[in-house]
Amino acid sequence: MNIIISGGSGFVGSALSHRFISSENQVSVLERRSITGTGTNIIECDTTQPGKWQRELLKNDIIINLAGASIFTRWTKKSKDAIYNSRISTTENIVNTLLQNKNKKITLINASAVGYYGFHGDEPISENTDPGTDFLAQVARDWELEALKAQSENIRVIICRFGIVLGRKGGSLEQMMKYFNRYLGTRYGNGKQWFSWIHIEDLVSAIYFLAANSSLRNAFNCTAPNPVTNKELTKALSSALKKPVLLPFAPAFAIKLMLGEFGDTLLKGQRVIPERLLEAGFEFKYPFIEDALEDLIR
Ligand SMILES: NC(=O)c1ccc[n+]([C@@H]2O[C@H](COP(=O)([O-])OP(=O)(O)OC[C@H]3O[C@@H](n4cnc5c(N)ncnc54)[C@H](OP(=O)(O)O)[C@@H]3O)[C@@H](O)[C@H]2O)c1
Repeated sequence: MNIIISGGSGFVGSALSHRFISSENQVSVLERRSITGTGTNIIECDTTQPGKWQRELLKNDIIINLAGASIFTRWTKKSKDAIYNSRISTTENIVNTLLQNKNKKITLINASAVGYYGFHGDEPISENTDPGTDFLAQVARDWELEALKAQSENIRVIICRFGIVLGRKGGSLEQMMKYFNRYLGTRYGNGKQWFSWIHIEDLVSAIYFLAANSSLRNAFNCTAPNPVTNKELTKALSSALKKPVLLPFAPAFAIKLMLGEFGDTLLKGQRVIPERLLEAGFEFKYPFIEDALEDLIR
């Protein structure tokens, strides 16, 4: 298969591109600066702008769209615009190309996030749960709506609502480990908020599975089947790292003061179940947080 990945230089994109390459596929990566070299064919471009790179899309069987400015920053008008526009413009450019070539049989796998659902307390969330109304939910909803415009007889669109991806290098785990290794790891606020996570190896396998099963379409929650509360995560991390939790908790007001509106996402969270992946027969290698952390921290 020929695969092209936008945002392929990132944490998820590099793991995906290694996996597809090792399965003897041809992988092209769209990168803003051609420095990482994870694909077999690197195309330097700005995907938020129309350009020659759009022609490359049609040489492929699968497009995986991951590009987007990081959300892990203090949210200002400028950073929110970058978070929103980088995702929507890239997707719009991809979809326009596909819609102008509707006869081409192709699959678009578009990233999204469990932030789509907003905050539902302890309620288990499936793919049918209503979207939220906060900033991240609006970004995810518009991102998905843009991708779904391409859904048609020849164009198969799959939306992957990622949970927090846990991997060895990069992503949230690396950040959390920094605190635990300095004995500063602790729960956020009351620690009752849900944390929907996925081991990067399972995420990559899930995307591979969705790419290979041509009957599957629309949205899939890409999270482990057993989400944990922030308190349970703290306990599991402390035990895996063998670093005791010395601080009672990080007060909610301090998190909000430090991170502003973004702090809310750490204090609320979602309890997401990957209902459609399980129904489709996908098997998780790491369904439980303890096993995932043991593998990643080993
Ligand atoms: N990792 C997670 O836990 C998680 C959870 C939910 C959803 N997601 C979503 O999944 C996608 C991939 O996540 P990731 O962890 O791999 O993210 P990442 O490591 O931050 O990589 C993001 C990718 O997007 C590119 N990018 C950044 N700003 C851009 C801009 N303004 N215009 C065009 N491209 C831009 C980056 O290119 P450069 O290398 O040039 O900066 C990079 O290739 C993201 O869209 C993210 O929102 C991730």
